[in-house]
Amino acid sequence: MIKHSLKRIALFASGSGSNAEKIAEYFTSNPEVEISLIVSNNPKAGVIERARRLHIPVLLFDRTTFYDTNRITQLLIDQRIDLIVLAGFMWLMPGGLVQAFPNKIINIHPALLPKFGGKGMYGHFVHEAVVAANETESGITIHYVNEHYDEGQIIFQAHCPVTPTDTPDDVARKVQVLEHEHYPRVVSEVLLMNNE
Ligand code: GAR
Repeated sequence: MIKHSLKRIALFASGSGSNAEKIAEYFTSNPEVEISLIVSNNPKAGVIERARRLHIPVLLFDRTTFYDTNRITQLLIDQRIDLIVLAGFMWLMPGGLVQAFPNKIINIHPALLPKFGGKGMYGHFVHEAVVAANETESGITIHYVNEHYDEGQIIFQAHCPVTPTDTPDDVARKVQVLEHEHYPRVVSEVLLMNNE
């Protein structure tokens, strides 16, 4: 039996899952929010081990299931998911899923969109491009998700300096600090906004 006041989040992640874990930790003491599922396309991803440790159910799928069937969308509807949070999820969201969850899918991007976004711009590639372009700052962008890479409406950005001696790894570390600091709180604010 699902309580109606309970807000249910599905976290999508393809990699290590450090953001997914920070978000799960943030809500552990909140009885009104449940991380109902961790959803992944990658059975070898670090996030799977984190989910096991956090006692969060995992849903794994392959490309055919995701793009050629509506099984994942239907399952998320059946589970009454209120918000889908992408935390290092690297595949484009299919149209049917976006349409079924209007303004209920958010993503974090490790740069200041609209710069350094689009297909192929993820994880370390983003930080390499920022350093190669001699940027003096980078940061994070949290945005709604539509059917195009990194194009949905921006909800929140935070900035960090990039110095001339910073390597892509240095930038990645600064950006990760911002991600862990802000993403859980912004997720909770979006949940509240959707409630109004
Ligand atoms: C994060 O830096 C996130 O911004 C990035 O993947 C990393 C996942 O880290 N996402 C993208 O690049 C999406 N285009 P995590 O697995 O440790 O949370």
